[in-house]
Amino acid sequence: MRSVLITGANGQLGIELAQQFKNWRVIALDHKSLDVTNREDVFNAFTTLCPQAVIHSAAWTAVDECELDPNKAFLVNALGTRFVAEAASSIGAYLSYISTDYVFDGETEQAYTEWDRPNPLSVYGSSKLGGEREVIQRATHGWSIVRTSWLCGFYGPNIVKTVLSLIEARPKLEFVDDQFGSPTFVQDLAPKIEKITSNKLSGIYHITNQGVASWYEFARAIVQLKGQDPSRIQAIATKDLQPPRLARRPRRSVLDNTVLRLSGEDLLPQWQNSLDKLVKKILNS
Ligand SMILES: NC(=O)c1ccc[n+]([C@@H]2O[C@H](COP(=O)([O-])OP(=O)(O)OC[C@H]3O[C@@H](n4cnc5c(N)ncnc54)[C@H](OP(=O)(O)O)[C@@H]3O)[C@@H](O)[C@H]2O)c1
Repeated sequence: MRSVLITGANGQLGIELAQQFKNWRVIALDHKSLDVTNREDVFNAFTTLCPQAVIHSAAWTAVDECELDPNKAFLVNALGTRFVAEAASSIGAYLSYISTDYVFDGETEQAYTEWDRPNPLSVYGSSKLGGEREVIQRATHGWSIVRTSWLCGFYGPNIVKTVLSLIEARPKLEFVDDQFGSPTFVQDLAPKIEKITSNKLSGIYHITNQGVASWYEFARAIVQLKGQDPSRIQAIATKDLQPPRLARRPRRSVLDNTVLRLSGEDLLPQWQNSLDKLVKKILNS
């Protein structure tokens, strides 16, 4: 049986990935089991466990905190990825790296293709782009970079769970209506990552659920699915957020899933359909 090693296995995507690889032996390593910033530990783990494939999902994802500690952001997201790519290469393993829409500046109305030029606005985006470059330069036995956006799922904290719980406690919630993206659901994303890995496909992939929303529209949809009045979600401009966010976000970081589309692959469902399923699952749990 083939084996796959997953870094950051306790994150919201990592947990879903570990459940997805059913025909594989899964080596799910959370932060405690493997800190990707320790080169020696990464090499020891990889040479001892010798997986055929590695999914590098670990990252420091606290976008605003990354602004306060760029060294840590680059250590985890860029240099940590160098260590993972070097170690994967040393054992001949395929590597799939999970990246982000925040590598783009969002200053265009068009959705980004895999061939568009990144221009990150934040430390987080820059450090993840650094990670992409490490993969491209150092992974010698096949690699993919899966850029995705606005992740949510059943496990771990995310906006869906936050809105569902805060709407109980507060009469009104404010969300920005001037940042747009594609909410993406890990239960839809994980099977695609498995397929790419199983077939050792190479290159950059944009993989998101279909459709676009602002955070305001997304939050309204969540509240509506809970049977609450959507007017309790109010629109606010990013510039009026209190306190202001430390990291600049792209205004419109919609990823066109060009490679999937041109390869004739099924695209992920519309975000509204997957949100409906997720909200039901959370409310029934
Ligand atoms: N969340 C999004 O909206 C989004 C959007 C686009 C792309 N992505 C990318 O998708 C991937 C998965 O994201 P996610 O939402 O599942 O994030 P997450 O829930 O924050 O999971 C990331 C995991 O990485 C772990 N980690 C942090 N530093 C580490 C280190 N030095 N060594 C090993 N593990 C470490 C974290 O553990 P601790 O919490 O214990 O530190 C956490 O369990 C990430 O690569 C992220 O950049 C996320």
